[in-house]
Amino acid sequence: MNSPQAMIFSSSSSLISFLFYGLAITCLSSAAVSASYGGNETDYHALLSFKSMITHDPYKVLTSWNHSFHFCDWSGISCGKQHKRVTVLRLDSQGLEGSLSPHVGNLSFLRALGLWNNNFQGTIPHELGRLSRIRILYLDTNKFSGVIPTNLSGCSNLEEIYLNLNNLAGSIPKEMSLLWKLAHLVIEDNKLTGGIPPFMGNITSMESFSAAGNPLSGSIPDTLGLWKSLREFDSGECNLYGNIPPSIFNLSLLVNFSVPVNHLAGNLPSEIGNQLPNLELLQLWGNKLTGVLPPSLSNCSKLLTLEMGDNNFRRKLTIDFSKLRDITDIHIDSNNFHVRDEADDMRFIGSLKNCTIIRTLELSYCSFVGVLPISIGNLSDQLTFLNLVGLTALYLGLNRFNGKIPTTIGKLQNLQILGLDGNQFSGPIPDAIGNLSLLTKLYLYSNKLEGHIPSSIGNCTKLTVFSLADNRLSGKIPKQIIQLPSLSIGLDLSQNSLSGSIPSDIKDLKMLNILDLSYNNLSGTVTSSLGECVSLTMLNLRGNQFQGIIPSSISSLRGLEVLDMSQNNLSGKIPQFFDKRFSLEFLNLSFNDFEGEVPVVGVFANASAFSVLGNNRLCGGLVTLELPKCKEKGKTHSQPSQSVGNERFLKVSYNELLKATDGFSAENLIGEGGFSSVYKGILDANDDRFVAIKVLHLLNRGAHKSFVAECEHANIRHRNVEDNNFISSTDFLQ
Ligand SMILES: *[C@@H]1O[C@H](CO)[C@@H](O)[C@H](O)[C@H]1NC(C)=O
Ligand SMILES: *[C@@H]1O[C@H](CO)[C@@H](O)[C@H](O)[C@H]1NC(C)=O
Ligand SMILES: *[C@@H]1O[C@H](CO)[C@@H](O)[C@H](O)[C@H]1NC(C)=O
Ligand SMILES: *[C@@H]1O[C@H](CO)[C@@H](O)[C@H](O)[C@H]1NC(C)=O
Ligand SMILES: *[C@@H]1O[C@H](CO)[C@@H](O)[C@H](O)[C@H]1NC(C)=O
Ligand SMILES: *[C@@H]1O[C@H](CO)[C@@H](O)[C@H](O)[C@H]1NC(C)=O
Ligand SMILES: *[C@@H]1O[C@H](CO)[C@@H](O)[C@H](O)[C@H]1NC(C)=O
Ligand SMILES: *[C@@H]1O[C@H](CO)[C@@H](O)[C@H](O)[C@H]1NC(C)=O
Ligand SMILES: *[C@@H]1O[C@H](CO)[C@@H](O)[C@H](O)[C@H]1NC(C)=O
Ligand SMILES: *[C@@H]1O[C@H](CO)[C@@H](O)[C@H](O)[C@H]1NC(C)=O
Ligand SMILES: *[C@@H]1O[C@H](CO)[C@@H](O)[C@H](O)[C@H]1NC(C)=O
Ligand SMILES: *[C@@H]1O[C@H](CO)[C@@H](O)[C@H](O)[C@H]1NC(C)=O
Repeated sequence: MNSPQAMIFSSSSSLISFLFYGLAITCLSSAAVSASYGGNETDYHALLSFKSMITHDPYKVLTSWNHSFHFCDWSGISCGKQHKRVTVLRLDSQGLEGSLSPHVGNLSFLRALGLWNNNFQGTIPHELGRLSRIRILYLDTNKFSGVIPTNLSGCSNLEEIYLNLNNLAGSIPKEMSLLWKLAHLVIEDNKLTGGIPPFMGNITSMESFSAAGNPLSGSIPDTLGLWKSLREFDSGECNLYGNIPPSIFNLSLLVNFSVPVNHLAGNLPSEIGNQLPNLELLQLWGNKLTGVLPPSLSNCSKLLTLEMGDNNFRRKLTIDFSKLRDITDIHIDSNNFHVRDEADDMRFIGSLKNCTIIRTLELSYCSFVGVLPISIGNLSDQLTFLNLVGLTALYLGLNRFNGKIPTTIGKLQNLQILGLDGNQFSGPIPDAIGNLSLLTKLYLYSNKLEGHIPSSIGNCTKLTVFSLADNRLSGKIPKQIIQLPSLSIGLDLSQNSLSGSIPSDIKDLKMLNILDLSYNNLSGTVTSSLGECVSLTMLNLRGNQFQGIIPSSISSLRGLEVLDMSQNNLSGKIPQFFDKRFSLEFLNLSFNDFEGEVPVVGVFANASAFSVLGNNRLCGGLVTLELPKCKEKGKTHSQPSQSVGNERFLKVSYNELLKATDGFSAENLIGEGGFSSVYKGILDANDDRFVAIKVLHLLNRGAHKSFVAECEHANIRHRNVEDNNFISSTDFLQ
């Protein structure tokens, strides 16, 4: 029986096991078994079938699957030492494309099948249900479609099933409840429907269950209270309804309980914190839970993350955080914790003083009433804030805080996001705010702040968005603010009593998208240096006392979508440059003193896209304006601009950008800052000029309603910002 092939095999593998195997075959098998697989032909054929259904193998991992070797030595294969049957087939992250051969169901000694992070498509074969010895099945991060085969229930030794990140549909087969050894079932991010079958409660070995991101619907079955070993339950965004059954709170080993963004209702049991003493993650935000936030949570001393925002919790917040020393994130925003006639809803803040590693404290939109803080409170000699120095985000927006912003806020050196908007803060903005040099987002809008804008804000050199709108601020716009080149999302100083002119240093704001100076007492001419703010998409100067003409430099702002100069004292002719090369969607020049002919091209061609009302010396324009005819004086109207020539106006979709940059690949990354990355790419296959594509990184979570919403809305579209093919896109939120 010794063939040359067998010699090769025996020299490259264990001679002893070969002999053993050769003997076994000689004794037991009457079939003419080729020594090339020197073992079980069923396994051999199953593997060949597996290989034959792989259509792409970029790393050539399957080339070793050839006659020169026994299949036990093929890459990704492990065999039992004695019987030489395949026990492990593991080829994760190999870029494999193709479908999964049903013959794999013949590998009857298989204990682990690991094919995660490839591009398998097609269905998961029912034949896998024959793998009675399999314990581990990792098929996640592929493109499997179809259903979870009911026959998997035949794999009675399965302990771990990972099917997450595929395109599986249909329901979770109730037969799965027969898998009495199953401990980990991970089916996140598929398209599964039909609820969580109550039968699943029978799998009492379950330790972690993750189904997040499936449109499952239905309620959480109370039979899951039988999962006594459960440590992790993760079913966010599953369209779940009803109450959380009380039996769940009996699972005292639970570490992570995460069901955000569902429709869960009802109260939490008052003893939750005593029933679940091991909780590290409690994530219930975005539901319809009501009642009080149970004070027993004060006993969850292992808690790291508490996310209860966006529910209907009410009544006074009485959680004592002093035992929660490891907590890093608290989000309880968008609930109603105010109690009528209570002057101070904020006493709980004092108990945070032992939480020395807290990073995020989100308390916005909670109807809190009180002085900030009342126990962060008497701040001047106050130590409480000091112990919160790790805070990176503090949201207190949309409450009813009053009094001054404490100067000790300057001690929160790590703050990156500060939201105090929508309260009743009064008095000056403390100079100490300039101490917060890591701030990227500062929201102070809609308060009663007065006095000057402190020039120390010029020290916040990472600010990307700053809103002071709707306060009572006066004095000039400090040039230190408009010298912050980091401002990229927006600068909103509207609805105050600011005076003086726009400093010409405004030209430094080259990344700025939105500039709103409306409704102040600003005066002087509209500085021509605004023309250097080439990223502007919205410029609002409405309701000031600007005079003079619209500077011709504005013609450089090709990305402008909204330009509002109404209610000023501007005069002169309406410039001809708002033509097709502009992406203007709305232009408001009303209530000024413009004269001469209203153009009819570009934005002026669409009566609903502009307004010139209240300018008594205008003529011409669209007929619908009902303005007097202009005196014919050498028909100069709509003279095409000199430079139309080869300028290309780019409007591109996100998909085109994706293609141009090869999926924003690292190779195309040509620059990266804290707030944006710049990629190069080729947009048009027939035109090999490179374009630069700027991607702003906006923090989505916790984004503040009005102003930010406006900024982010305005940023969704793509536009050409400069003649040198510079495109800005924020579709790619990070
Ligand atoms: C290989 O395994 C199959 C299934 O376990 C069995 O039916 C067959 O007899 C085996 N063949 C050899 C040559 O061992
Ligand atoms: C068999 O696999 C080995 C190892 O990958 C490789 O070097 C050899 O070229 C392969 N032989 C054939 C015939 O493909
Ligand atoms: C293995 O599986 C395939 C498909 O499920 C089947 O057709 C074949 O007969 C099985 N048995 C052997 C020995 O290959
Ligand atoms: C699926 O399981 C059923 C019942 O055990 C069995 O009759 C059927 O042959 C199995 N199908 C496959 C493809 O193994
Ligand atoms: C699961 O448990 C229920 C009781 O909760 C029992 O009636 C049912 O027969 C069991 N189902 C299976 C498939 O084991
Ligand atoms: C809980 O979730 C965190 C991350 O969210 C994870 O690192 C940790 O392993 C989980 N713990 C358990 C017991 O599942
Ligand atoms: C919780 O567990 C206790 C003790 O095992 C049991 O008596 C009680 O009925 C359980 N409660 C629920 C709601 O399942
Ligand atoms: C916290 O636990 C202690 C000790 O078990 C208990 O006495 C106390 O009532 C609990 N606190 C709350 C608010 O449930
Ligand atoms: C809070 O910290 C202080 C000082 O480290 C300590 O004395 C106190 O016992 C702590 N409180 C709690 C409830 O852990
Ligand atoms: C300041 O603290 C003292 C004692 O802690 C308290 O009595 C007082 O009400 C606090 N005042 C304010 C305005 O918070
Ligand atoms: C600014 O930060 C420094 C360093 O932490 C600190 O010593 C100083 O007191 C802070 N100033 C203000 C006004 O908060
Ligand atoms: C701002 O920075 C300057 C120069 O670094 C420094 O002198 C000043 O104290 C800082 N102001 C604040 C309020 O931090």
